[in-house]
Amino acid sequence: MSKLSLGLNKNTIIGRSRQPIGVFDSGLGGLSILKALKDKLPNERFVYYGDTAHLPYGDKSENTLKEYVSSIFSFLNQQDCKLIVVACNSAATVIHKLENLPFVDDQIVEVISPIVALIAEQKKYQRIGVIGTRKTIGSGMFDQKLSQLNSSLEIVAKATPLLAPMIEDGFVEEDVLLPIFKRYFKGFENCELLIPACTHYPIIYNQIEKYFDNGLKVLHTPKIIAEKVDQVLANQQLINPEKNDKEDSFYLSDITNDFLREAKLFLGSDVNFSLVSL
Ligand code: DGL
Repeated sequence: MSKLSLGLNKNTIIGRSRQPIGVFDSGLGGLSILKALKDKLPNERFVYYGDTAHLPYGDKSENTLKEYVSSIFSFLNQQDCKLIVVACNSAATVIHKLENLPFVDDQIVEVISPIVALIAEQKKYQRIGVIGTRKTIGSGMFDQKLSQLNSSLEIVAKATPLLAPMIEDGFVEEDVLLPIFKRYFKGFENCELLIPACTHYPIIYNQIEKYFDNGLKVLHTPKIIAEKVDQVLANQQLINPEKNDKEDSFYLSDITNDFLREAKLFLGSDVNFSLVSL
């Protein structure tokens, strides 16, 4: 049984609802999820950790990734977070393999399961494309799981490892992306829906839609994750009833001017990052 269902009293619940929500990614892509969370849950305070010293996660071995992710969970536990949002698909592929996490299942929302559940249930789209890092696509967590849950779906899944570093470096203009899209999107011509399974990709949603001449729908995943987080908090009576007057906290494991410029691209405004290496 989860420790959350063990009869906590009202004061404990109110106290816990004021605790922050931890959000993490390999770098800054997770800020796209944070932005949607802040829109959906305006009373909440967030602690963001971007593991910029270790990105990209998409090319790391499973053991290395497990070590990085475990350290981040410990750090966010020290920050007294009530819930953790794993805002990185690559990191989400190892969560179920981690032992002794300081959080129970009800306190973790990752970016893969809610999307898979939603797409498996819907009836509108039959031919579905999935793109993501090597780690995410190689894990089979999208294509295998979707086929298992709904055998009528046709899935085309492809690793698109160049896209995240290009976005990191600001190479997001249509003409720069065109030759890369041509190569990566071979085989996606008949898809009706694309799941962009990397939290960096919201920055290029428009460019992808334009490339397909709006003939394919790009699933806007940050909003879906924010709705899931809202639901999980509501189920546990953990939504903060009053606006938290403390500022959000932002931590990176490496800080460069490029990271700061990129953060502005995701958030639309400057924030102060503190350096914390784990
Ligand atoms: N944002 C990460 C994800 O969602 C990808 C970037 C990386 O490879 O570190 O998978």
